[in-house]
Amino acid sequence: MSIIFSIFILLFVIITCFLTTLSTSAASQSLHPDELNALKEIATTLGIKRLNLSAEDPCNIRTLMIIQEKQDVLLNSAKNNSIVCDCSFNNNMTCHIKVIELKTLSLPGKLPPQLAKLRYLQKISVCANRLTGNLPRGLENFKNLIYLSVEANQFSGTIPDELGDVTSLTTLHLASNYFTGSLPSSLDRLVNLEDVYVNVTIL
Ligand SMILES: *[C@@H]1O[C@H](CO)[C@@H](O)[C@H](O)[C@H]1NC(C)=O
Ligand SMILES: *[C@@H]1O[C@H](CO)[C@@H](O)[C@H](O)[C@H]1NC(C)=O
Ligand SMILES: *[C@@H]1O[C@H](CO)[C@@H](O)[C@H](O)[C@H]1NC(C)=O
Ligand SMILES: *[C@@H]1O[C@H](CO)[C@@H](O)[C@H](O)[C@H]1NC(C)=O
Repeated sequence: MSIIFSIFILLFVIITCFLTTLSTSAASQSLHPDELNALKEIATTLGIKRLNLSAEDPCNIRTLMIIQEKQDVLLNSAKNNSIVCDCSFNNNMTCHIKVIELKTLSLPGKLPPQLAKLRYLQKISVCANRLTGNLPRGLENFKNLIYLSVEANQFSGTIPDELGDVTSLTTLHLASNYFTGSLPSSLDRLVNLEDVYVNVTIL
């Protein structure tokens, strides 16, 4: 009787171990849900009409799965479209977006203020698209931003004073847009800048 009982216990232990192993290996790193939601808003504001976020985690595939108009081709060129995450949070289970590069994609929207919801963002490059409008308010919220390139778009208006609050910036590419007015004196505060292309029309 006690032998049967022992075997039963042993089986139970083995099955439990097996299931635990199974569930840990099935769980994988994934983008923080708040950032996944922010990413949807960001894509919409940039003018990306069809985005597939359900298939794969953008941190794993290191890109945004944009579905092009008409033909269902996934745009995965690392040169054009790159997402880099830091997945060291929460015992290597949670990722935060560190880099967004969406270049030469003819994106027709605006620069999303929702980018500020990505609290660990260090690099934004949206150069050579067809983005319009002003640079958004709230730039002072980009606490970790090192690299900002909005070059070769159709942005207009004045360069916001708050850009001078992003003191972490080392690279700032604003050229080949339709910015007007003078450079704000607040940019003096960007003491870490090493690489700047700015091009404004003085009215
Ligand atoms: C997203 O991609 C997956 C896998 O490639 C595919 O099965 C799914 O139908 C796609 N969803 C949309 C809305 O295109
Ligand atoms: C997270 O991953 C890194 C690199 O793979 C590893 O060195 C580190 O020990 C891991 N940390 C935890 C808490 O699992
Ligand atoms: C970027 O994507 C567009 C298509 O949307 C393509 O025409 C262009 O050649 C790509 N550029 C690079 C450098 O991959
Ligand atoms: C400055 O911007 C204007 C208007 O976008 C553009 O035509 C010109 O080529 C730019 N110059 C440089 C040096 O980037």
